[in-house]
Amino acid sequence: MTQNKQRDTWGTRLGIIMAVAGSAIGLGNFLRFPAKAVENGGGAFLIPYFVSLLVLGIPLMWIEWTLGRYGGGFGHGTAPGIFHSICQKNRFIKYFGVIGIFGPLVIFIYYTYIESWALGYSFFALFGKIQALGDQGAMKSFLTGYQGLENNQYFNGLGWAYLFFLVTFGLNMGVIYYGIKGGIEKLCKIAMPLLFLCGIVLLIRVITLGAPDPARPEWNVSNGFGFLWNPDFSKLTSAKVWLEAAGQILFTLSVGIGVILTYASYLKKGDDVVLSGLTAAATNEVAEVILGGSIIIPAAFIFFGPQDIQTIAAGGTFNLGYVTMPLVLNHLPWAEIFSFAWFFLLFLAGITSSVSLAQPAIAFLEDEFNISRQRSVLIFGIVSFMLCQPGIFFLGKGVVDELDFWGGTFFLVLFATIEAVLFSWVFGLEKAWDEIHHGADMRVPGIYKFIIKYVTPLFLFFILGMWLWQEWIPIIFMENVPLENQPYILATRAGLVVLMIVLVVLVNIAWRRKETCLPAGREKLVCD
Ligand code: ALA
Repeated sequence: MTQNKQRDTWGTRLGIIMAVAGSAIGLGNFLRFPAKAVENGGGAFLIPYFVSLLVLGIPLMWIEWTLGRYGGGFGHGTAPGIFHSICQKNRFIKYFGVIGIFGPLVIFIYYTYIESWALGYSFFALFGKIQALGDQGAMKSFLTGYQGLENNQYFNGLGWAYLFFLVTFGLNMGVIYYGIKGGIEKLCKIAMPLLFLCGIVLLIRVITLGAPDPARPEWNVSNGFGFLWNPDFSKLTSAKVWLEAAGQILFTLSVGIGVILTYASYLKKGDDVVLSGLTAAATNEVAEVILGGSIIIPAAFIFFGPQDIQTIAAGGTFNLGYVTMPLVLNHLPWAEIFSFAWFFLLFLAGITSSVSLAQPAIAFLEDEFNISRQRSVLIFGIVSFMLCQPGIFFLGKGVVDELDFWGGTFFLVLFATIEAVLFSWVFGLEKAWDEIHHGADMRVPGIYKFIIKYVTPLFLFFILGMWLWQEWIPIIFMENVPLENQPYILATRAGLVVLMIVLVVLVNIAWRRKETCLPAGREKLVCD
């Protein structure tokens, strides 16, 4: 073992389950999921969605919990070190792990900004500003003014957005400064029940809504649910629907990012991973399918009807969350309270995810460079703060979408594929199976040996292949990017390449330092 110092640990089992569920439950559950379901066959979407959950989501959840706990035993909390502990004789394996720091960092730098909008809107809702906006046009202007995309009667410049960003960023840093047990675990133990409370209040409000317009009694809640869940099985023949479902599962469970590896590295050797991983995944699914699927679309259906809701759902996730939903809530008595509950729910969902996205980079500095947590948070804070700026100031130029594509889509699938292959084929499935079951409170069904070894990696290769085939050329050549935005997109890509190179160099330096300090005759692990 190369453990140099005492690593942080989770205080309780409930704490880690809440933290992983908190990382998983995010904006994706309440905004992305319902929009995807409407677009991809309604109830029929649940078929590829649950198939993906069974053959991708749950296996990857177990893989990350297991590898994370294993690497943590060697004092490593991030993918380079964790992959290195799987196979120390391979000098290159650690470089694959760079994606497990790069991905969460890239997501963090735009996610925190979007999360800060929810905090800003919670504030505006509580003070009646949102309720003063009467129609879709006004609500849209409010959003674009807030984002600094135009100066209008609501906002002049980015002042408010920047203020809420600073508060959100400061809160994130404050939480991670206090560490795993003292910061993240405490936050999630408070935020998760609050999030569910807000979600249940909104859910009850939506299902008890009558048809608001007596002239249109068919615009009612049961037809709203029908609109979302009536299955259109013809969609299932489209490969795109299957890819969308698989992508949603990876995104919503936060697998393939690297954060669960890091969280699990703070477990003790004998802590269960099978039941805990499953519980965290199940909690996320309840939040996504029950809460996420029951609030925004049925509510919007009642007020906008079957025609307009199609356009609204196709208008993207931000429109749904920041334009449609507040308009719907404006029609209700106590609009301030319900709007506040909605935006505060988004904020809680956001912050419990963003602190998890920050943790890999911090753990990397702590574990591989032996830097104290306080200094690691300071370094991370300065660097990530600077990296957040392009997304804030060049939002309208497509910078956030670009970061989301690479950090939140492409590298997520690539990293999940790498993890799945390393787990079964490099670590070795028999050894992995023993490792999963250390301290386990239940056994993984035997069929998962086959699924984890063959189905999960093949499915991931298929998704990667399809993406490359369908989207590589237009993306690389920016075919869908307006000409005036292309310099910004190129600059973002150049920045991402530099970031990746810096991380590769840091991994190299960290291992060189370790090798020069290695005690003589230290035993090395070898691969199977
Ligand atoms: N899993 C997080 C979400 O759904 C990233 O937003």
